[in-house]
Amino acid sequence: MADWKLLGMAALVPMAVLTQGAVKPAPKGPVVVYSEMHDHVAAKAQVLWDITNATLDDEGNPSAKKMKPADWIKLKAALADLSASLNRLGGAKSFVVRGPGQKILDEDTTGGAKPADIQHHIDANPAGFRQYATALARQIDGIGKAADRRDLKTVYEAASELDGQCETCHQTFWFPKDAQ
Ligand code: HEC
Repeated sequence: MADWKLLGMAALVPMAVLTQGAVKPAPKGPVVVYSEMHDHVAAKAQVLWDITNATLDDEGNPSAKKMKPADWIKLKAALADLSASLNRLGGAKSFVVRGPGQKILDEDTTGGAKPADIQHHIDANPAGFRQYATALARQIDGIGKAADRRDLKTVYEAASELDGQCETCHQTFWFPKDAQ
């Protein structure tokens, strides 16, 4: 009766051995949203905005002359970190909104979103959460390609439009009441 189960088990053993030998271990435990946002996504998006805003000329147009080689390197590094963070969110099995000792912006403010509520929103639709993260990672990779071409106009325009995508996810999972 249990033979097919044993067969299944036998097939699993070599699989387990293969997985153990794999270079990239599967991510352990849930990804902490706060850490990704605070240390990577928000921090590096700010680097992107600061660098691109500093290139604006008197007419408010981005001027490639204002980009030094070091700025391009800094920009690329910020984009790579941003993309890696969003891909961690996009590939996570599960999420916790914050770890011990971390405080999410406004969680103590009256009317501010509470961690348990945010957790509930994400747990109700983790696939949607991953999708927003992955879509933004792709967008960031597109900006990275424009940066490789030293195409400041495209980088600037895409960077200026980013916050709309940040907002969409925030309004869905962080403070949905404000979305109405
Ligand atoms: C996939 C969804 C998602 C995307 C995309 C996203 N965020 Fe967030 N972000 C969240 C959630 C959920 C929270 C609140 C919960 C938390 O911080 O754990 C948050 C929190 C934050 C915070 C507060 C961190 C703190 O100090 O408490 C900042 C700042 C932030 N995001 C900036 C950004 C920026 C900038 C972007 C776009 C470049 C962005 N986020 C894109 C989901 C997202």
